[in-house]
Amino acid sequence: MQKKIFLSRRLPRAGMDLLKTSGFLTDIHEHDDPLPPKALRERVKDVHGIICLLDDRIDRSLMDAAPKLEVISNSAVGFNNIDIDHARSRNIAVCNTPGILTETTAELAWALLFAVARRIPESDAYVRKGKFTGWKPMLMLGSDIHDKTLGVIGTGRIGTAFALRSKGFNMRVLYSGKPNPVLDRELGAENVGLETLLRESDFISLHIPMRKSNYHLLGKKEFALMKNSAYLINTARGAVVDEAALVEALRTREIAGAGLDVYEDEPELTPGLKGLPNVVLTPHTGSASTSTRDAMAAMAVENCLNVLRGEKCGNRVV
Ligand code: GLV
Repeated sequence: MQKKIFLSRRLPRAGMDLLKTSGFLTDIHEHDDPLPPKALRERVKDVHGIICLLDDRIDRSLMDAAPKLEVISNSAVGFNNIDIDHARSRNIAVCNTPGILTETTAELAWALLFAVARRIPESDAYVRKGKFTGWKPMLMLGSDIHDKTLGVIGTGRIGTAFALRSKGFNMRVLYSGKPNPVLDRELGAENVGLETLLRESDFISLHIPMRKSNYHLLGKKEFALMKNSAYLINTARGAVVDEAALVEALRTREIAGAGLDVYEDEPELTPGLKGLPNVVLTPHTGSASTSTRDAMAAMAVENCLNVLRGEKCGNRVV
């Protein structure tokens, strides 16, 4: 019997071509928007593999609607959209796309840092509106980046790549969590507790996965510990930050600004967030370069094919 794969979205060409020539039966939801849960459950009834995106909720009810399911392949490095425990209990393989998006995501974190510190979107809007009528000594004053203290929360692949990019800016680098010999050696970075990092950093960037223990890691209490001149960058997952508390901290200038690529209840934004001048917002595009998205699509399809063919797959999280 020929096995069937469901792909939940139109992917970049590299992934589509690989899937369409794989020899498996395929069902492709060839659109940019996700299917609602009920429609998704209907589509996976007779499939052996699902290739999905980070906004497809692959929960117990979805898996149980697919009795033949052998593999869930996420075209993302994060996999908090998947009920891993239930997949394990059903003996369903779960795969992700690690490594290939590391540098691209680290670059977006820096882009946000620069954008908010030097007020780039505000400045751009100012010029476009015809408000630039001459050089002014006090116009669009922001923060320096060089010689400042950078705090990195989470130094896995992306956090490490992000921190290493500080090299040209002569920054003091603090990080929390497990010791990271690469950062110690390359940057003389200091492994400190979260409280010290929050108190002493001028820029704080989040690079931790979303799991229960990281839910609202930063909230009212933590923003109060940060400098009034500090900036927060989040390219990890929205729910690591209490977004309502962040809006308040930005509004009252408890902290100076934030650069956000991810949101607690994506794609919804907490009321008040988008009206703030001291926040730069991007639509979860950390990995969105043409070549990285191509590579992710190809890897997600390959992961699924490898599992269904009974071949080795190096990107299994379950
Ligand atoms: C993006 O957020 C990813 O997890 O790949």
